[in-house]
Amino acid sequence: MDLMAYRELVETLNIYSRAYYVHDESPISDSEYDTLYAQLIGIETAHPEWTAEDSLSRRVGGKPLENFKQIRHSEKLLSLDNAFSIEDIEGFMQRIKKELPEETLVFSVEPKIDGLTVALTYKEGILFQAATRGDGEVGEDVTDNVKTIRSVPLKLSQPLDLQVRGEVFMPREAFAKLNEIQEESGLQRYANPRNLAAGSLRQLDSKVTAKRPLSIYIFDVIGDVKERVTTHSESLKTLESLGFKVVKPTLCQSAQEILDVLEKTKLMRSDMTYDIDGMVIKVNDFGSRKTLGVKTKSPKWAVAYKFPAEEQMTEIIDITVHVGRTGVLTPRAELVPVEVAGSLIARATLHNQDYILEKDICIGDTVVIQKAGDVIPAVVRVLKERRKPNSVPFLIPENCPVCEAKTMRNAGEVAIRCTNPWCPAKNRRSIIHFCSKAAMNIDGLGEGIVDILIENKWIKDSGDLYTLAESEEKLKRVEGLGDKSVKNILAAIELSKSNDLKRLLTGLGIPFIGEKAAQNLARKFKNMEAIACASQLDLTETEEIGDKMAESIHIYFANPHHRQMIQKMKDAGVNTVSLEENLESGLLKGLTIVLTGSLERFTRDEAETIIDKMGGKTSGSVSKKTSYVVYGTGAGSKLQKAIDLGVKTMTEEAFYHWIGV
Ligand code: IVH
Repeated sequence: MDLMAYRELVETLNIYSRAYYVHDESPISDSEYDTLYAQLIGIETAHPEWTAEDSLSRRVGGKPLENFKQIRHSEKLLSLDNAFSIEDIEGFMQRIKKELPEETLVFSVEPKIDGLTVALTYKEGILFQAATRGDGEVGEDVTDNVKTIRSVPLKLSQPLDLQVRGEVFMPREAFAKLNEIQEESGLQRYANPRNLAAGSLRQLDSKVTAKRPLSIYIFDVIGDVKERVTTHSESLKTLESLGFKVVKPTLCQSAQEILDVLEKTKLMRSDMTYDIDGMVIKVNDFGSRKTLGVKTKSPKWAVAYKFPAEEQMTEIIDITVHVGRTGVLTPRAELVPVEVAGSLIARATLHNQDYILEKDICIGDTVVIQKAGDVIPAVVRVLKERRKPNSVPFLIPENCPVCEAKTMRNAGEVAIRCTNPWCPAKNRRSIIHFCSKAAMNIDGLGEGIVDILIENKWIKDSGDLYTLAESEEKLKRVEGLGDKSVKNILAAIELSKSNDLKRLLTGLGIPFIGEKAAQNLARKFKNMEAIACASQLDLTETEEIGDKMAESIHIYFANPHHRQMIQKMKDAGVNTVSLEENLESGLLKGLTIVLTGSLERFTRDEAETIIDKMGGKTSGSVSKKTSYVVYGTGAGSKLQKAIDLGVKTMTEEAFYHWIGV
């Protein structure tokens, strides 16, 4: 590849990345994106001197820092005065009207993102420095960390000198996912998205930040752009066209219009994908802002309206315990139902025993619940003055509430786990996880069906799924299943046998081993047996596998029940080797393949990527030069043409079997 083609690849990847992280669009599949990214890294390894300023590879993080450098802000980062009521907002508007009696005032009303402020400096359009707000005058240099945030452009569409200010935050879904992992790993949950975002941005090792899916909304600019436009809303539009993800303002002219926006947002708040703690109301015109001026710490032209906390008072009727996939016992408060932020809440998480003790939560207590950022409602405090004499303290039981086996707390963990490897609750969750999209991706095997299979004693563990075909007739007799769905489920199970090792490893649900770790293990050890037999030391030599993970893998494979289950899978023909090498084998070199009909196992994009990785080419039309036509269900004219021309044809399944994926 020449330099021109490299630059084109950088630009293509940046377009896709911007579409995804700034505009929430997905123009290409993940695997296509991964292929392009792998190409980029390949070229940059061969030609490090080509590496562009705005290459995606610059986002991954370099060497850890010793400490953060202090940065004096070129222009102070002001804070905002708070308004807590409609009267406060009216007061703010009247003060402005008094100073500017002649002007038709326009206000920009925008979300106040609950994150942490950063100032990003660009020189000639290239991101030069990123600093935290600090005390408003001096902040910390977090440039390497900010570069890992995909919605921060490394290069602008014009070579401008400017500084933008914005709020870094963690989207709710990402926060919930990270907390799920913490919980399953027996570790303390993160308190809220804001703290986690702050902690992530202040990491000395930017590789850690790179793993935390942070995002940003820009709300202010100083420098080039400001001189070109006369209003705040125009400046945001210009920033957007330069490549920034900006807050969306609503322009209002009267107090009533502002109140309507506040009310509407308050109602929508719990459905938003990120946390906001209020709305900022700003004079839109830069000229008016100048006349109004600033006080020592805050401008006179803006105010932050803080939403009342989404809290509600209720009573704990009972505390129940839920057993998860890795056996973690999670206490839950069963509540007298109340409405919080638009939804009826009857249950709230109590996280773990330490949380219950720390907050001194008893059954029968009157408590304040809050709908926190991760949407799962939580008990935030007990109203002790209302405690009834008969309220009962709660301790997580010494025996599992489902199987009655002993529970145990490992040193250094907050989680208490059920010790029974065959605990039905744990087992049920494990099987559901095994079938899930991220693991073996067995279509149609959701919670409901898994329950039926377990209740009827047709399966005891995930290994038994592969002998389920023997029970086909019995399955068909289950109410609500029917011939067709049974056939589909069995076909999906059959198909999963040829999954890559990394899916199988993910599916085993070994504590601390998620998709990424499974992929690294599969790449290094190539087959399941090698992982099962590896020493802890060998395991820790794998990328991103630490001591705790290695120990967990060791414990997992030392368990005879787990070995038996894996043996059942092997006996049934489940693939236990890494197929990535097949991908690199160049098996399809020189061949042109036409895909037709609807493909089931992979999407068309994925199938094309696989063919491409194996050295083949795909084409949209059949000719004498076509090597193979691979067909799925509903194939029509292309398949017919292949037959007419004498071109070889094969089913989708036969094709995957042949190429070994
Ligand atoms: S404007 C001089 N707009 O709220 C004006 N701030 O309490 C500077 N914030 O430190 C702020 N969303 O970090 C502005 N849409 C928004 C905001 C916003 C969040 C933060 C900002 C500021 C704090 C003020």
